[in-house]
Amino acid sequence: MPAAVTVIEHPLVQHKLTLLRKKSTGTADFRRLLGELSTLMAYEVLRDLPLRETTIETPVASTRGRLIDGKKVAFIAVLRAGIGLLDGMLGVVPSARVGHIGLYRDEATLRPVEYYLRLPRSMRERDAIVVDPMLATGHSAVAALDRVKAAQPRSLRFVCLVSCPEGLATLQARHGDVPIYTAAIDERLNERGYIVPGLGDAGDRYFGTKAS
Ligand code: URA
Repeated sequence: MPAAVTVIEHPLVQHKLTLLRKKSTGTADFRRLLGELSTLMAYEVLRDLPLRETTIETPVASTRGRLIDGKKVAFIAVLRAGIGLLDGMLGVVPSARVGHIGLYRDEATLRPVEYYLRLPRSMRERDAIVVDPMLATGHSAVAALDRVKAAQPRSLRFVCLVSCPEGLATLQARHGDVPIYTAAIDERLNERGYIVPGLGDAGDRYFGTKAS
């Protein structure tokens, strides 16, 4: 049985996602909302990180507390739109390491081709979280997880903001052991590979560019 797909239904997430989707939302607001959403999603995605007991001194007394165990978290952004999820997540895990994976679509084969890969050191000791706002066909997500899995992280999760049944099916067929976190499962993909209703091109909206 494939690992769970968690749809983050928190009212704050759903409210901000609705504002983000609106075509009237401009670049500055799109960036701010994506940052806020990624912070909120990080709470859910990191909910089960292992903790270890420690003793600390408060100004008043010695007490026991808990800290995140081990070498900690690595966020891996799928370029380019994945960058939009980094700041918000780093806001709550400032010591996390960051990796990048760049993929473009070969127009003849429609398959992702890797053009850049840089992962943090010691991946075997890290909990890796691959981030990409849109899970559309699923081909880039599969390729990204292939590469990150080869580095043998301690654990591996995939986070997107908007997904669709086609992308989820593709990802689960190939990486059924990787838990997926999303804020929405939309209706479908259209003939151009966009999620419907979706939010358009996440990279263009975040960076303020326009595909020609
Ligand atoms: N990538 C996007 O940015 N948007 C989509 O709808 C699909 C893929």
